[in-house]
Amino acid sequence: MSKDARATPVRATSAGVPAWIFGYGSLIWRPDFPFIAQRPALLRGWRRRFWQASPDHRGVPHAPGRVVTLVEETGAHCWGMAFLTAATEQEAILAALDIREQNGYAREEVMVALEGKDMVSALTYIAGPANPSFVGPAPLQDMATQIARSHGPSGANRDYLRELAANLSRLDIEDEEIANLSRAVEALRV
Ligand code: BEZ
Repeated sequence: MSKDARATPVRATSAGVPAWIFGYGSLIWRPDFPFIAQRPALLRGWRRRFWQASPDHRGVPHAPGRVVTLVEETGAHCWGMAFLTAATEQEAILAALDIREQNGYAREEVMVALEGKDMVSALTYIAGPANPSFVGPAPLQDMATQIARSHGPSGANRDYLRELAANLSRLDIEDEEIANLSRAVEALRV
């Protein structure tokens, strides 16, 4: 975890909904909303997986890409970034995120440990197994080929994976699946 990410002091808010938003995918490097502080945060019992099809951002309907969701798994964990938002801005922030993450993602309240220690309630977006774009696991090479080939309105699927891997690395977050996928995609000449 980087020292810079710990630098901002955290202030309490009096919000009626959790003031923290937990990001484990593109929110880590592109939150696109105002926040008061950010902290690397640990979510236990869930794993980041490239198991959600992206027909709208990193692919197109006839050739969807793959993006991350969270999958429940006993003993697993997922490091991401928690953002503290101001009570006065939450409604607008959540309304914008609901639109950005509309393809199968639903807002969920989870408990995360800031820097692995202080527990706080946070909102996160999870695309569960019942949503139509949930594609689940596939062999590593198949996922890598799909990611290497896919492009959508938000750009190349490969760049999404690159950004995620680079930002996890910047934060000293280890994620074996992301590392394996990154190596497999970079090795492809698609
Ligand atoms: C995230 O960064 O947490 C995220 C981004 C896109 C969809 C769902 C979650």
